[in-house]
Amino acid sequence: MLQIAGIVASPRRRMNTDTLVQKILDGCQKAGASVSKVYLNDLDIRPCQSCKVQDGAGCIHQDGMEAIYEIFEKADGLVLGTPVYYNTVSSQMKLMMDRSYCLARPITLPSGKRAYESAVKKRKKGIVVSVGGSGANPECVLPVFNLWAPEVNLEIVDSVLITRALLGKPPMESPDFLGGAFLKGEKFAHSFGF
Ligand SMILES: Cc1cc2nc3c(=O)[nH]c(=O)nc-3n(C[C@H](O)[C@H](O)[C@H](O)COP(=O)(O)O)c2cc1C
Repeated sequence: MLQIAGIVASPRRRMNTDTLVQKILDGCQKAGASVSKVYLNDLDIRPCQSCKVQDGAGCIHQDGMEAIYEIFEKADGLVLGTPVYYNTVSSQMKLMMDRSYCLARPITLPSGKRAYESAVKKRKKGIVVSVGGSGANPECVLPVFNLWAPEVNLEIVDSVLITRALLGKPPMESPDFLGGAFLKGEKFAHSFGF
């Protein structure tokens, strides 16, 4: 069965980021996928120490990140939700990204050039959800996700980029945003051939 995992990097449960991720997951479920969700804020994930261990031995830490490594291995699709903090992802999301560094394996191409491949075997597709309070820089987190995604064998194929969450009606109360997120979830699940 198609496995879609939501990873929420907002500390605020049932607020904008969480609600929009959940709506996408609801759409995936309606389309027949099995869905799950984790809150990074609940996991004890320590910061990367830049030990440069990329030999398959894994990370020097053993902590809450192990649950995330398992998701990277097993999921077909990821719904990655973050609030916008100072024009980038939240620190909860950044910790997860940095701790993926050990999943990049150095390889030598036939040309002799050095490159990296991901230790994660299953190719994944992902949707990014970001929620900013102001109207500024609606796409600011996308380059961050796109730079990180190959590390975990992931391609970002869609996004829900909400701004102005603090200016007027909260996005999580907007039928347009919620309905749009649900439809994106359905479309996402169907894109796997469901
Ligand atoms: C530390 C911090 C930094 C923030 N920086 C930005 C920012 O750079 N741009 C922006 O649009 N909103 C910023 N905000 C507002 C949040 O993105 C906004 O409140 C968002 O709704 C949070 O999502 P949530 O409802 O899921 O918690 C910031 C909020 C916090 C707490």
